Amino acid sequence: MNYPTISWTKGCVRIIDQTKLPHKLEYINCRHIQTLWDAIKRLSVRGAPALGVAASFGVLLGLKEFKGQDREAFDKHINKVCDYIATSRPTAVNLFNALRDMKQVLKDHLQASVAVLRELLEKKAFEIYELDRTTCRKMGKYGAALIKNGQTLMTVCNAGALATVDYGTALGVFYSAKESGKKFKVYACETRPLLQGARLTAWELLRAKIDVTLICDNMAATLMKQGKVDAIFAGADRIAANGDAANKIGTYSLAVLAKHHGIPFYIVAPFSTFDLNIPTGKQIPIEERDKSEVLGFGAFQAAPKGVKVYNPAFDVTDHQLIKGIVTEKGVITSPYTKNIQKTFQKGR
Ligand code: MRU
Repeated sequence: MNYPTISWTKGCVRIIDQTKLPHKLEYINCRHIQTLWDAIKRLSVRGAPALGVAASFGVLLGLKEFKGQDREAFDKHINKVCDYIATSRPTAVNLFNALRDMKQVLKDHLQASVAVLRELLEKKAFEIYELDRTTCRKMGKYGAALIKNGQTLMTVCNAGALATVDYGTALGVFYSAKESGKKFKVYACETRPLLQGARLTAWELLRAKIDVTLICDNMAATLMKQGKVDAIFAGADRIAANGDAANKIGTYSLAVLAKHHGIPFYIVAPFSTFDLNIPTGKQIPIEERDKSEVLGFGAFQAAPKGVKVYNPAFDVTDHQLIKGIVTEKGVITSPYTKNIQKTFQKGR
């Protein structure tokens, strides 16, 4: 896509301010870690793969704050920066995997000088950035093969260019299908409370000239019952070793509905979204966000002040409900524990 979501430009992390979309395409230049942390927290930059890239670029911001050549002090500083970025949002494991990879650079080069480490950390951050670009395109191709000409598809939240560097996971599948000449339609669920589907997915797909129809989340069941949905593609924020997949709240309900109506439900996610240290989805930390997000949107207040609110940002779809997980290594199917291990046993 021609609007890079995140880049490292002139010593700052340049991100699209996604809180302003679809009305304005504006950028924020994050020169300090605190600015980036705030941007992550309020979802100016969001989506699991983009958060991984943001975290690695955040470490580069941390480099700018360090003066001197003392290696011990440098390691302490970088570890502190990583630990701070890790407090921004808990669910997308890409963020933690990227920070782990950045920390690993220090461990792998114990004798290196501060000057050399600066270069190595920058190199690693750009590797993470580039990897996202290539893996999204690979996943797109594998996923597009699952789409038949004339089908109608459904998606939730935004797993597109805006959730990655520039292409997308679930929406990358649609982009790839379009590039290969397939004709299809997409229903985008609006995705309450923060409307990533309405604000971001609808914006992206319109720009890409993909036939998109916006629906409220609670319309999905009826559409499936009416036979209007052939397949569902969603992204993920963290996938456990058994294939249970956390994604935006509402994804699980779509998967249950899909099972009931005999519709294939696919997750599209790169290796950086897998957490093979946790056996099942039960161990995935689910972010809970501020009640104001449920009480209204922006200046609009929908509910009476004082009402109690519960606002989990993600849910977990059990692997039994997933027909396949589209990765950069191909489509993984059941039995997931065995096949995930087999697919990724050699790492990336
Ligand atoms: O809260 P968000 O907007 O960061 O949630 C994003 C999602 O749930 C996406 O579907 C997921 O990160 C996959 S993005 C390719």
